[in-house]
Amino acid sequence: MKPASARRRIVILTGAGVSAESGLGTFRDSGGLWTQYDLEDVATPQGFARNPVMVHDFYNARRENCLGAQPNPAHHAPARLLAAWPDHVTLVTQNIDDLHERAGARGVIHMHGELLRARCAACAHVWDAPRVMAADDPCPACAAPATRPDVVWFGEFPYHMERIADALGRADLFVAIGTSGQVYPAAGFVQEAAMGGARTLELNLEATAARFDEVRTGPASVIVSEWVAELLD
Ligand code: NAD
Ligand code: APR
Repeated sequence: MKPASARRRIVILTGAGVSAESGLGTFRDSGGLWTQYDLEDVATPQGFARNPVMVHDFYNARRENCLGAQPNPAHHAPARLLAAWPDHVTLVTQNIDDLHERAGARGVIHMHGELLRARCAACAHVWDAPRVMAADDPCPACAAPATRPDVVWFGEFPYHMERIADALGRADLFVAIGTSGQVYPAAGFVQEAAMGGARTLELNLEATAARFDEVRTGPASVIVSEWVAELLD
């Protein structure tokens, strides 16, 4: 274990690529979710207003997949780093699955919300999602039949942005893992961190269009474990 003085303030951003080897589909890879569904129908407030049954079917199916999946080393390695350097590492995810938590990570920042949480479209009350959710499920707080997944859709503002901006401003190192860098504001984090003086590292199957100081390519289950081992062992 390296001495405490070697610890650096690290912000990790993960995307769908960290859950790919757990069997959960990504969005923009070949065969990805956005080749099977029109995101306007299932990942926008307008789509939910038009057809809440279709949206709940989409998220109920993803919730079933998530509950049947297991974390892979790309989830276990960041959890190990968080446990070793709890005051230095901030783990932000665009993913709505709970695989980081099931790998042991604590304090994960879900900027796009969580598949296993429900939200009332009327009063914004949030609660643990049932396995199968329906739009007319009554809200436990206000009883309105207005239940939606607690997921941030296109055109909606992500969660925890102040906490994320604060962590990016203080980071010595920003690491993007398994994200295509297609969706803002997450796609802008690398630039924000670099402007604050952080070094930037991309871990992905292939390099994306974004500019990083260092890029390592390969399956996240392998290259994320190697990267964490370099820091800790
Ligand atoms: P955006 O306009 O930034 O779109 C981001 C990317 O989504 C685009 O670059 C494109 O790659 C893809 N995209 C957009 N429309 C598409 C379409 N019709 N078909 C295929 N791909 C398409 O997104 P936005 O509307 O500005 O929303 C950004 C906000 O929405 C952010 O706050 C983000 O956190 C949130 N968001 C949430 C989800 C989700 O499903 N949880 C998805 C995307 C964005
Ligand atoms: N190891 C490492 N990287 C991988 C692996 C793997 N095994 N499999 C896929 N990837 C990489 C791909 O190369 C791609 O860059 O993961 C990335 C997946 O990109 P997307 O499908 O666009 O997923 P993501 O970046 O998380 O999308 C961002 O868009 O639709 C919204 O809300 C949704 O949070 C999502 C956001």
